Amino acid sequence: MASKAVKKPEKKAKKPVAPSSKALDIGIPADKLNAITAGLSRLLADTYSLYLKTHNYHWNVTGPQFNTLHTMFETQYTELALAVDEIAERIRALGAWAPGTYSEFARLSSVKEADGIPSADAMVADLAADQATVVRTARSVFPLAADASDEPTADLLTQRMQVHEKTAWMLRAMIA
Ligand SMILES: [Fe+2]
Repeated sequence: MASKAVKKPEKKAKKPVAPSSKALDIGIPADKLNAITAGLSRLLADTYSLYLKTHNYHWNVTGPQFNTLHTMFETQYTELALAVDEIAERIRALGAWAPGTYSEFARLSSVKEADGIPSADAMVADLAADQATVVRTARSVFPLAADASDEPTADLLTQRMQVHEKTAWMLRAMIA
């Protein structure tokens, strides 16, 4: 007599389990930690989106300003590439998972994707506006960090705002 085929239980897709906040006892309550890491995730998504757009414009810029802009955009995307690592690792240090997929970044980001290949001036104007967008996101997270006496996050946000405000000014000055 043939034995009944034993049906194997279907494998469930592994869902990331939220890291236990119990292990993380740094003097910030879990609800405040969640608010801060959610805010930092939005900043990470903005920064990554701006990194990609700046790299895109580095590749595709044309015109008499090519050399200046190609080089300027490289300086900017290199700085952004280092920044995403700092932000993501701060999220991990606060006990949360860092978003790291294009779909998560698209959902979380306030920086919109490039639409086609703009003119050189339009690229500069677009990046200036996006740099300001990232400043606004960082500033919106700041009160959450301040409220929790999370000085390291406040320090990171301060540095990011300073860089983005300066870069926005330099971009605006290019087309003034
Ligand atoms: Fe390059």
